[in-house]
Amino acid sequence: MAIDTGAPSGSVLDGARGFLGEVIELRRELHLHPELGTDLPRTQAAVLAALDGLGLEITTGTALTSVVADLRGGAGDGPTILLRGDMDALPMPEDTGLPFASTVDNTMHACGHDAHTAMLVGAARMLSEQRDSLAGRVRFMFQPGEEGDGGAVDMIDEGVLDGVDAAFALHVAPNMFSDFVVHRAGAAMASADELEIVVTGRGGHASTPHWATDPIPVACEIVGALQSMVTRTVNVFDPAVLTIAKVQAGTTTNVIPESATIAGTLRAVSESTRHAVWGRIRQVVDGIAAAHGCSATVQIDEGYPVTVNHPGFTAWATDAVEDVVGADRVVEMPSPIMGAEDFSYVLQKVPGAMFFLGVCPPEHPNPFEAPACHSNRMVLNEEAMATGIAVHVGVATAYLAAGGRID
Ligand code: NI
Repeated sequence: MAIDTGAPSGSVLDGARGFLGEVIELRRELHLHPELGTDLPRTQAAVLAALDGLGLEITTGTALTSVVADLRGGAGDGPTILLRGDMDALPMPEDTGLPFASTVDNTMHACGHDAHTAMLVGAARMLSEQRDSLAGRVRFMFQPGEEGDGGAVDMIDEGVLDGVDAAFALHVAPNMFSDFVVHRAGAAMASADELEIVVTGRGGHASTPHWATDPIPVACEIVGALQSMVTRTVNVFDPAVLTIAKVQAGTTTNVIPESATIAGTLRAVSESTRHAVWGRIRQVVDGIAAAHGCSATVQIDEGYPVTVNHPGFTAWATDAVEDVVGADRVVEMPSPIMGAEDFSYVLQKVPGAMFFLGVCPPEHPNPFEAPACHSNRMVLNEEAMATGIAVHVGVATAYLAAGGRID
């Protein structure tokens, strides 16, 4: 089924549709055989096979099964733009009932990275055909280990950003209308840190708490106080979300345990709020524990930083994308998404942006009712991948045509 995007005929989008069949085929192949983390040999082999014969300069990773493919334009020197697609799946069961559902136990492409990889291959194929008119270089970054392993950091260490002037990525979104492209300058996604707090008192008999130091009410007080701390000290226009998602203490009804553990996640959309909250968590925990004669430890495991889209690049790329898919299909996201992304590390080094591609399947007229990314029932409208290919191609060709000038 073709989607009428309202874009001009003879457009980049029409060209992208010509690659849709093979891109869907690759996406389904990846979906059938998902792999986890930074070691994705089968996925890497599929990407290398799909890029074979395109005349790209290809290097593979050492610390991880990445693929970096450079397309050198035939129209002379120019800037380098990087396009990124992540390749890893999630450790979870799949319950979509799709004919090409995962054949690997407890492993599913539930974040659409199969589509990201396939769309980027499609873009590489399409741009290769236009090589003679390109001045500069397009670098395709096929990245393992996005789901928690920070594969982007390994690839940066191995030189993926060397000589790169700008970077662009697309993430599919089943909860956005299909074929719409969504952008946001500044913070687009949150930082994500994990915290674990252990409150230690003195164990004893539950009938004589005065002969013990009970850590449980202290831990409960900390849970409440952390919420007060966030609402009373964090600017609502530069927010943080702190959720205690795990509380663990005790073994039975008549024993006061020695310790209580609480754990959760902290999200923020600016590094300043993120760091300020780290300090306040420690202040609240230490103060409350001390008030009750307990001791406490706070461990904060730093996750991905805030994904910040470069404002100038975002404005420029929005125009470029509008030229490709039509202005009526390009919308601004009113607020950041509180999930996190390791493309954030790339955007800390070079100007660029991550945009979102609506892929809500047609059976859900209301995208908010469609299973989201990371759902065991997440499905996407594969036809929208033509828009994704076109967006990658449109951004890359416009960037090289502009000689890298984005203002
Ligand atoms: Ni993802």
